[in-house]
Amino acid sequence: MLKWVIGNWKMNGSLKEAHDFAEGAVKKLPHVSSHVMLGIAPPFLYLSGMLGILRDTAMMVGAQTCSDRGQYGPYTGDVSASMIKDVGANFVIIGHSERRSHGETSTSIASQIACALEAGLSVVLCVGETMEERDSGLAKAVVLKQLESSLPKHAPAKTEQFFAIAYEPVWAIGTGRLPMPEELSEMTHFCRQIMKDRWQIDIPVLYGGSVKPSNVHDVLIASKASGVLVGGASLSPEDFFQLVANLP
Ligand code: PGA
Repeated sequence: MLKWVIGNWKMNGSLKEAHDFAEGAVKKLPHVSSHVMLGIAPPFLYLSGMLGILRDTAMMVGAQTCSDRGQYGPYTGDVSASMIKDVGANFVIIGHSERRSHGETSTSIASQIACALEAGLSVVLCVGETMEERDSGLAKAVVLKQLESSLPKHAPAKTEQFFAIAYEPVWAIGTGRLPMPEELSEMTHFCRQIMKDRWQIDIPVLYGGSVKPSNVHDVLIASKASGVLVGGASLSPEDFFQLVANLP
């Protein structure tokens, strides 16, 4: 079975770090199993530079969001899915909790997904509950609502486009805290089941939140997830590829 490791740089890195990561990846990639799908999502400004180095390698390069207002138009500051595709990137992370907490609604997330799929990009859709919601017994209800309110009716028709869900409990992101093993497997199973009911296919369900080289093995065994979405530990090629080497 394919295992996925997708890195999300958030608003981190520099031109030099993006260049060094890509150069480092080129050296490490020949040693990675072909059963591992790798992706990295730097800030927009570093996409082209990374793609210049990684274009013909097995490392996918993607963006961290895209405009929800179509592909072109009078939208100052927006970057469209078509533009992301145009520079050669192939996926986009949508609905990260750090964006939801800055005002992205289910409606805008649904529009971003539609724009991304229309432009031919693959999608990693992030969902996850806050600590308060978990404590109130609402984790599944929240995730269900996030999925139902933003998913298109049908899976992407093009085989080269993947659609993955990343279950990322908000309280585990960047905190060093991990869900209990049974919470992990319960939630990834839940996401997988929802997607199966909706699209009648198995799609990759990743786990994200404080994944590091030292815990990725246990996290994947416990969660039975298809892979991981990694923030902090994706910033250096050493950490990123150590994490890949420690996959179960
Ligand atoms: P983290 O971030 O690995 O730094 O916790 C994960 C994410 O936000 O995708």
